[in-house]
Amino acid sequence: MRVEPVPAVLGHVAVPGDKSISHRAVLVAAIAEGETRVTGFGRSSDTESSLAAIRTLGVEVDEHDVDTLTVSGVGLRGLSEPSGPIDCGNAGTLMRLLAGIVAGQEGRFELVGDESLSARPMERVAVPLRRMGARVATLDGHAPLVVEGAALHAIDYVLPMPSAQVKSAVLLAGLLAEGETTVVEPVPTRDHTERLLERAGVPVRRRAGSVSVRAIDRLVLEEVEIPGDFSSAAPLLVAALTVPGSELTVHGLGLNPRRTGLLEVLGRMGARVSVYNRRQIGGEPAGDVEIRASELVGTSVSPGEVPALVDELPLVALAACHARGETVVRGAAELRVKESDRLEAVVEELRRIGAHVRVTRDGFRVRGVPARLRGGTFDAHHDHRLAMLGAVAGLSSREGVELQGAEAVDVSFPGFFDLLAQLTEVPR
Ligand code: S3P
Repeated sequence: MRVEPVPAVLGHVAVPGDKSISHRAVLVAAIAEGETRVTGFGRSSDTESSLAAIRTLGVEVDEHDVDTLTVSGVGLRGLSEPSGPIDCGNAGTLMRLLAGIVAGQEGRFELVGDESLSARPMERVAVPLRRMGARVATLDGHAPLVVEGAALHAIDYVLPMPSAQVKSAVLLAGLLAEGETTVVEPVPTRDHTERLLERAGVPVRRRAGSVSVRAIDRLVLEEVEIPGDFSSAAPLLVAALTVPGSELTVHGLGLNPRRTGLLEVLGRMGARVSVYNRRQIGGEPAGDVEIRASELVGTSVSPGEVPALVDELPLVALAACHARGETVVRGAAELRVKESDRLEAVVEELRRIGAHVRVTRDGFRVRGVPARLRGGTFDAHHDHRLAMLGAVAGLSSREGVELQGAEAVDVSFPGFFDLLAQLTEVPR
């Protein structure tokens, strides 16, 4: 796909519901009592995998329209053993959280994924679940992940890496474990699971640096409204930031502080960003974000900041190309085990279109100039975040970008290119 440079990114938009929360909403609804109505569901191939997975486990889902559905929960111990493998597609969040959910259920559950998901590390969930008494097998540390449900007991677990997926798997298993399960996180990661469990009636004990749950008899959710996905809005925000003359407002956006590190980093770089109408949507902080094209300066991103913008770091690299001076990102080795090796892939592809960027062991360094990048061919490496990065890089380039593998956006944001077209139509 060809992405041509545009004169400006202008307008007001809303983006589909948050992917992280959408996965969690249907997974928790599946083990809740009775019906849960989910509105603002972020439909994508990843979240379709979650719907298919809970159906395979005997849960009924009634889809009213593209973003509204009702899940008929079967209760904490009511999932049925499937006759075949559960296909998690490309969705790491699904595979890891589901492993935690089925760890205490009766039966044998085989979780499989596509080629990319099958190359991602799964011992990180298997290790704590085994310590809780679950029987979990991986294939050399990877999917297929075979979980044979067992009686669980609580553990105290110090996360070896900052991962909301691992934290969530342990907490979800903790709902069926005897005793108090505690996860200690040296750096705070997104807390959507904790918030959703609290809404479902679970007493979640939260202290600075740790979170605990105990076994509970029942969960009741009833209604969940999902705010717009900050990670889907992020490429649009960075497009508006880097194409001169742009002005964009994204409405109804999830603004959980453990997700919005990008706003802080861009603010330090000189971005003109404002947040309006702060409110709560479905128990999550939300609001409207306005951004204008701005002159930028380089910055450094420290390891402690990384979890709050882990999926947005590729976009930081692009913004940094447009900023005066050097930008340094450290403590981001987790990017190497995402849907692609995002450190290598981002650096390789940005270099191909004219950026001065180099990879380090756990991050990257960018030497920016306040000018458009040249453009050229950009390959998405079968990674949705890379596909969106390449598209945004094309809009703000001099000669445009030939984007290879653009269809990867379907994993999290199938309407991405249509929305982008609306915002870049000329004349307005
Ligand atoms: C996610 C957590 C993060 C993030 C991923 C979604 C989640 O992964 O990169 O896109 O929904 O919990 P890790 O937990 O592996 O850091």
